[in-house]
Amino acid sequence: MLLSRLSRLGARITGEATRGKFTDTRRGYYEGTFNNYLHFLRNRTLSTTSSDKAQEEGSEQTEKISVTFVDKDGEEKLIKVPVGMSMLEAAHENDIELEGACEGSLACSTCHVIVMDVGYYNKLEDPTDEENDMLDLAFGLTQTSRLGCQVIAKPELDGMRLALPAATRNFAVDGFVPKPH
Ligand code: FES
Repeated sequence: MLLSRLSRLGARITGEATRGKFTDTRRGYYEGTFNNYLHFLRNRTLSTTSSDKAQEEGSEQTEKISVTFVDKDGEEKLIKVPVGMSMLEAAHENDIELEGACEGSLACSTCHVIVMDVGYYNKLEDPTDEENDMLDLAFGLTQTSRLGCQVIAKPELDGMRLALPAATRNFAVDGFVPKPH
């Protein structure tokens, strides 16, 4: 399934190139997205491999942190997230409504989350330019907004609270087309 998604993204890039629509800025945009997706797949493969290995060894030592998701109605859900897992993956594993339309390839803003405590926000890695570009398109952007697929669990984030915005903007559905840079 992952390979077919990768193929589709590659085909999209190749298709645009052969149709002569590939401006330099557009190429940069797609190459960035494509590279991010490759990075995502590599990490996913690595994390799968390490978790398989941990299971083989019968290890129950995988470190987990506590994260609370607060939905738009104020309902709270406390979950345990293994270190190394993204908040998007953790939300999906725990039936939390965080969309993640592009599955972490930085091509949407539907995984928008708001870090409720600035202290935790400051412990996160700085967002990349690609993440900032997508955040600019997010509905209800705040000073502590991040994309859930880019927030990776680490011990310092134990106790973090994340609010889900009241709505998300999916330009594939809303018909919004981002302008090339
Ligand atoms: Fe699309 Fe996070 S799931 S950017």
